[in-house]
Formats: sequence, structure tokens, C-alpha cells
Amino acid sequence: MTKALCTSQEEVSAHIGNIVRSEINKNADYDLEKWIQSRVKIGRGDTILDIGCGNGKQVSVFSDLVGDKGKVVGVDIFSQVPGLLENAREKLAGKKNVELMDHSASRPFPQSDQIFDVITSCYSFYYVENVQDTLRECYRLLKNQGRCFIVGPSWDNSREFYDLNREITRQELPDNFSARLWRINNEVIPAAYEIFDRVEVSPFVNRVFFEGPQGVQAVEEYYRATLLFQEESGKHDEREQYAKEFVKRVQMEMQTNGRYIIYKRAIGLTLFKESKK
Ligand SMILES: C[S@@+](CC[C@H](N)C(=O)[O-])C[C@H]1O[C@@H](n2cnc3c(N)ncnc32)[C@H](O)[C@@H]1O
Repeated sequence: MTKALCTSQEEVSAHIGNIVRSEINKNADYDLEKWIQSRVKIGRGDTILDIGCGNGKQVSVFSDLVGDKGKVVGVDIFSQVPGLLENAREKLAGKKNVELMDHSASRPFPQSDQIFDVITSCYSFYYVENVQDTLRECYRLLKNQGRCFIVGPSWDNSREFYDLNREITRQELPDNFSARLWRINNEVIPAAYEIFDRVEVSPFVNRVFFEGPQGVQAVEEYYRATLLFQEESGKHDEREQYAKEFVKRVQMEMQTNGRYIIYKRAIGLTLFKESKK
């Protein structure tokens, strides 16, 4: 059994973007789906499982890649997130090869063994209760020669952004927040080496640039949308004070350097099933 650690420097630079974005949460600089495809090579007729599919951003792309003879199953905790299923249905309307399933990846999947060619999970795997259990389920569900791709934030994701927040609030990151950031490193990678036959680890750095008044507005929206802001303080006035100070610091940095940059850092894991266990 070969278990190689592959950290591709080219992959990092290939994905560095420098585009000004005003809607960071809606549009990433890099094309995540293209990156996934370069790792797992989804083919026509394949059967795909997307764990934590959200509104179906990846499912939609995979549906086109697998074509009429293929199938994509998008799984999410739909019944626990108001409006999510409706959003996904809207986004995936007319796609006949897509099935949406209300299921928590923390529980065993109802499907039988070895039915998926590819399993993906984008920014969702760190929510599962027991990483080992869910990874074992992925292994079970994959056909022989199947591939699993998991992407999540690296421990140092947006570090500069969080450092600034720490300076302003004089508080460490909330425990559950930093625990999520470390989960890919500390839990998913070791478990993947234990369970899968081959593992490739690829870092991914994406710089997001903000410039001008629109940029300030976008960073503020981003700050307010992060769990960081929501978890930082239960007190409304205090939170507003932090947001105000945050905006001031961003403006100062823009005056000095002409722009404010968020460094989004992710880790992609490609996991291979190469033998029947
Ligand atoms: C950050 S979103 C990512 C959505 C999508 N993959 C994307 O990249 O746009 C994380 C998703 O994981 C889902 N999720 C959280 N816990 C889950 C669980 N136990 N089982 C399945 N999905 C879960 C959430 O409901 C949410 O839709």
C-alpha cells in the first residue's frame, strides 16, 4: 500500500488569484470546481456523491460533467437549515441526473457499498461529529479506484484577518472557531492516511484584493457575515463597536498600501481507494 504525501508548490501558485471582488462569499477568485476536477477527474457516466452540498454550487458543475448517463447525489442537513433545500432546488432546476438527499454525514449512509466513482466535500467535512466514521463511510461507498476529494480551510486561513480582529477585540478566537480551522490538519489528514490507500495533500492560497470605497464595504460585509463576528460577542453594541474599528483599520491599510488583502488558505485532500479492504 503506497501512502505518499504530495505537496505541490505549482498547485499553490497556479491558484493564486488577484482579482478585486465585491461579493467575496458569492464568487471566489479561483475556480474551485476546476481545481476539484483536476484532482479527481470526473468522467461522463460517473456517479458522484457531494457531501455538504449546500445550495448545489458543485453539484451543478458535476451534473454537466457526468452527463445523462451519470448521476450526482447532493447530501446536506436540509431539514435543519431553513430555505437551503429550496435554494438548491432552484439552482439545480431541470437537472435530471441530480438527486438531493436530506442526511447528516455524521450518520451512516443508507446506500450500499461501492456505488460512487467520486465523493467530494467542500468546506463541510469539518462539521461532522466523528471524522474517522465519516471517512470510513466514504471508503465503503467508493468503488475500487474511486477518489474522494475534501477541501477545507487550513489552520492559517485568513490569518492576517483574524490577527486584526484579535488586536481590535483583545480576545482570542472562540474555541469552537479555531477548532474548526485545525480540524483538517489535526483530524482529517491523519484519519485519511489510516483509512485510504493513497493520500495527496495539496495546499491552496488565494489572495482576495479589496480597493476603494466599494472594497471597504465588501470587507465590512464579509466581516459581519463571518461566524467570527457573530460568535465574538453576545452584546450588540460591543459587536458594532468592533465592526466600526475594523472598518477604520481597513481604511487605514488601504490608504497606506492602496488595498486590503485577505489570504484565503485551504487544504485539498485527494484520497484514493485502490484495493478492496
Ligand atoms: C460552508 S457550506 C459549503 C456548501 C458547498 N459545499 C459550497 O462549497 O458552496 C457547508 C455545508 O455543510 C452542511 N453541513 C453541515 N453539517 C453537515 C452534516 N453533518 N452533514 C451534511 N452536511 C452538513 C451545511 O448545511 C452547509 O450547507
